[in-house]
Amino acid sequence: MHRWALLWTLILLLKEAQSWGFRNGIFHNSIWLEQAAGVYHRESRKGRYQLTYKEAKAVCKYEGGTLATYDQLEAARQIGFHVCAAGWFDRGRVGYPIVKAGTNCGFGRVGIVDYGYRLNKSEKWDVYCYNPNSKECGGILTEQQKIIQSPGFPEEYQDELICYWHIRVRLGQRIRLHFLELDVEEDTSCLADYLEVYDSYDDVSGFAGRFCGDNLPDDIISTGNVMTLKFLSDASVTAGGFQLQYVAFDPSAGPQNHTHSFPAVPLH
Ligand SMILES: *[C@@H]1O[C@H](CO)[C@@H](O)[C@H](O)[C@H]1NC(C)=O
Ligand SMILES: *[C@@H]1O[C@H](CO)[C@@H](O)[C@H](O)[C@H]1NC(C)=O
Repeated sequence: MHRWALLWTLILLLKEAQSWGFRNGIFHNSIWLEQAAGVYHRESRKGRYQLTYKEAKAVCKYEGGTLATYDQLEAARQIGFHVCAAGWFDRGRVGYPIVKAGTNCGFGRVGIVDYGYRLNKSEKWDVYCYNPNSKECGGILTEQQKIIQSPGFPEEYQDELICYWHIRVRLGQRIRLHFLELDVEEDTSCLADYLEVYDSYDDVSGFAGRFCGDNLPDDIISTGNVMTLKFLSDASVTAGGFQLQYVAFDPSAGPQNHTHSFPAVPLH
């Protein structure tokens, strides 16, 4: 009896591994991945919770996108999209995607925290947009390694950008960020344009550094399997931008190994 149950479970697991489900600690489903790939979060330049419904639509449209649907937001959540900020999405609904239960975000639950369809469209929130064709300004990255660069790199980036990259690798893995190029408008506290790195699901906790200017920072290594990058530019002065590479590694392989095995990347 037990043996049959075990075998059955094994068959189910194998089937699942081939089609959809958790693989490598990441939820895989081709439809979901397709839908999810274009979902991103935006806030107003003025800060959090400053967009009316009309302004929220304009923010998405400005970048060639639309408001995300509930299904797209949920699809993104399934592959690890976690943002602790309520935003407008399709048809005047407000909510946010939660992957990891926390006390200060999502009321200890996971899922789309749904505030429902808002009757008052003058309320101010952030926004969730969808644009599968514009992946340069942010996105959800689940590859084992990838190069991330500012939009238009190495040409000048635009004014008034806010891009978020959410890196999610296998459970148990860690992430090493290695800077290849940095050319971001410089001021003493990096207030104008900057790249921020968070050792976390979002840009609320786990602040690891804010960078501008042209000195290459040291490599940054995550404590877990997620990292968030935020790139922001203000209304004036731009520069070449940044280019960095992340590589997922298995901490059990020992610290020397990932240092030495860091792949060389061609610059362009
Ligand atoms: C709608 O929301 C705005 C912004 O929060 C508020 O100023 C306004 O009074 C609200 N209108 C109504 C009818 O509740
Ligand atoms: C590094 O990892 C490789 C496999 O990828 C292994 O063969 C090698 O022994 C490791 N070296 C060290 C120093 O841990």
